[in-house]
This record gives sequence, structure tokens and C-alpha cells, in this order.
Amino acid sequence: MPYGSATMPAAAVAAATVEFRNVTKRYDAGAKNVPGAVNDLSLTVPAGKICVLVGPSGCGKTTSLKMVNRLIEPTSGQILIDGEDAAKRDVIELRRSIGYVIQQVGLFPHQTIGENVVTVPRLLGWPREKQRARADELLALIGLEPGKYRNRYPSQLSGGERQRVGVARALAADPPIMLMDEPFGAVDPIVRERLQNEFLRLQEELAKTILFVTHDIDEAIKMGDLVAVMQVGGYLAQFAPPADILASPASEFVARFVGADRGLKRLSLSRVGDLDLREAPTARVGDEAAAARRLANSNPFGYLLLVDDQNRPLGWVGHDAIPTDGHLAEPMAESMSPLMDRRTTLKDALSMLLDADVQVGIVVDRKGAVIGLVTADMIAERMRETVGDGRFVPHATEVEPGAVVAAAAVAVGADDADGSGSEAELEATDAR
Ligand SMILES: Nc1ncnc2c1ncn2[C@@H]1O[C@H](COP(=O)(O)OP(=O)(O)OP(=O)(O)O)[C@@H](O)[C@H]1O
Ligand SMILES: [Mg+2]
Repeated sequence: MPYGSATMPAAAVAAATVEFRNVTKRYDAGAKNVPGAVNDLSLTVPAGKICVLVGPSGCGKTTSLKMVNRLIEPTSGQILIDGEDAAKRDVIELRRSIGYVIQQVGLFPHQTIGENVVTVPRLLGWPREKQRARADELLALIGLEPGKYRNRYPSQLSGGERQRVGVARALAADPPIMLMDEPFGAVDPIVRERLQNEFLRLQEELAKTILFVTHDIDEAIKMGDLVAVMQVGGYLAQFAPPADILASPASEFVARFVGADRGLKRLSLSRVGDLDLREAPTARVGDEAAAARRLANSNPFGYLLLVDDQNRPLGWVGHDAIPTDGHLAEPMAESMSPLMDRRTTLKDALSMLLDADVQVGIVVDRKGAVIGLVTADMIAERMRETVGDGRFVPHATEVEPGAVVAAAAVAVGADDADGSGSEAELEATDAR
């Protein structure tokens, strides 16, 4: 079940702008020649947008995030929320206005799922009935049936379900800002893909300002309206929309970090709905077989797509399988193609075709009715169109050249090995 099976009430608070202004964090402020964790970071995340912080392990992503809700205080510089300095806000009130999904989920093991979800509302002193209603509403929103899940404990959930609960908990008090630290990091790639898609769909309704951390460039490109590529030492290597980062990486480091398969990556920026879909040669169950045979003959596939009375696909019928008279029937369908919708990224569409070892995918609407067809050739064509040379062009950057050179040798794409102490962190956030 996807997120979004229930609708969210109109947001009580609009999204807020988050601005980092020359923010530096040195854990060891006294020591000389020790690189900072975050170094003179300046960037602005517009209200309602997702900004992804991406970079190798230890580059300062988590530190940057925790300075927003003041779990960590900057050594210098300011973080402004809707123009107001976070350092001047009451810290408890500040944290309650910011949803926080911590690295490695960190649900409270001895609380039920329902209790976990309403951690912040409980601290805010909401009446019990309102808490319960909010828990159920959020569980439905993230696609977990409240009756089934509300009284379970975290250990009785799958990894993907736990990650959704982590997101629900962060949303509970409807905060204008969400900080999400590798929110989908602890699940396998297939579940991860699904959670990403569901979350993007949810964000269309929520329109929160989101700072999202990952060390996975593919995830960054997919999730971000804006992407901040960081490198070890806490330097901002590039801050731009994902398409710009792929098209013109600002440094050798960024070029290496996004990798050689930029063409393929750009496919995740286009969706099936962006293509001119091919019309599907359809025939309906009950149609006259003779006419259907003629139709099958006249199209280059030699196949018809058999649909039910709601235009939902049942499968392909080859010319040879259609009798010379009588009517079309469901058992005549011989094979099926993967189903996708307008929002499926071209990258996902291509991998669905490759997995199913077919050339054609069927695009359906929300009700499952056929809209058209996508072919592997159409996707390949789009990939050729969108690939520039994507090389790093020197001077096309506002980044300090010294910083770029110094860190260019850093290993990229390192695995994330963090994740300790997450509950303590959440308690630090909540239990005051
Ligand atoms: N409490 C601390 N005291 C001293 N150094 C710290 C502390 N927390 C983090 N660091 C250091 O600051 C740097 C940035 O750490 P941070 O946790 O922000 O990295 P990250 O980008 O989130 O990495 P990862 O992808 O592994 O989670 C690292 O070099 C780390 O060792
Ligand atoms: Mg981290």
C-alpha cells in the first residue's frame, strides 16, 4: 500500500525558507589544521522544496542537518528560518516546528507504533483522543492500516514499514520543515525505490520544506528540487537543480561523484508522461474476431492489446491466436507487458522493460485504463537527446578552487557506516 491512501488536511503551517549563511562547524574549535566538519556553508532552500545534501561519508551532511534544529550549534555563521535566526528561537519550540527523521529510523522499541507516531503531539499535550485520531490518520497516510498496525511494536514491522513510521512520526505535528537523514537508507533497493516514489507523491500534497540527506547520488537526483554536493572537509562543491549538476558539474570532484553514466541518470529526471506515447492497438473482449484479425495484421506489432470493458489491459493477442470468426475472449491473451503510469521515471521504465525482457510497456491511468505504449527505442532516443558532453568545464564554478583540488582525490560513493545513537538523538529532540 502506498503513501497517500488518505488525504492530509490542509497544512496548518505553510512551508518555511531555510537559509544557511556562512555556517561553519568545527568540533575541535581549538585545534589548528584540523578540517572543519562544515566549512562556510551558504545556501538557501526555498519554501516547499526538497534540497538534498549528498556527498561521501563524513562530508558533514548530518552535521549540517542537526544545526537546523540546533542539536548541534554552529561554530560561526547563521541559519535563518523564514529570515529569522534559529539561534534566537526558543530551542524546544524550534525543534517542535521541525520534523526529524533520523539516520537509521530509531523508533522507540517499547512503544507501540501508534505511540511512536504521536511522540511530538504527546509532548505538546494534545488531548488523548486527538492524538489517537492523528496516529490513525498518519498511519493511513503512509499506507499502514491503522487497525492492524497501531498496537504493534517496532520489532513486529518490516524494515520498510519502520521507515514509513519514522516519516509519519516526523509529520505528526505538521511541521513546516522536515529534516530527513538517510530516511530510506536501511532497506533493500526495491523497497527503497517504492518508498521514494511514494514519498514524492506525498510531498506533492504536503509541500514541506525538506532537507534530505543521502550519500547516494541516484537518490539525490531523483528526490531533489535542488542538490547540494558536499565533499569531505564540509565544503559545498555545487548547489544546483539536478539537471544542471548532470549537465555541467562544477568541478572534477562533482563530475567524478555523479559518475560516468550521466546519460542514464538523466533518465531519472524524465517521466513516461514526457514522451509522445504510442497509441495502443486495442481490442475489447467480445469484439468480433474477424475485424480484430484484420486490425492485428495491419499494425507493425502483429499483436493486439486485449482490454476489458473498462479499457484495462488483459494481455497481448497475436494474430495467429485470433480465430477467423466468433468473438474475442480473455483466455486468448498470451502475454503481458509491464504496466507503468505517467509518473514512472524513464530510468524505472527502462529497467522494467529490461527485467521483463520485452520491448514495450503499457501506460495506464489511475484507474488502470490504457493510455498508450512506451517502447525501449523511445527511451533510448530520449537518452540520446538529453546527453550533453557533461564534462567539467573549469571556471564555470563559484567554488573556491583550492578547496576543490584538495578534496578531488577523496574517494567517492563511500558506503554509509553511521547510525549509532539514534534514539538518544531523538530523545534529545523530544524529551524536553
Ligand atoms: N561529535 C563529534 N565530535 C567530533 N567530530 C565529529 C562529531 N560528529 C561528527 N564528527 C566529524 O565531523 C565530520 C562530519 O560528520 P557527519 O556526521 O556530519 O558526516 P556525514 O556526512 O553525515 O557522514 P555519513 O554519510 O557517514 O553519515 C566527520 O569527519 C565526523 O567524524
Ligand atoms: Mg550522516
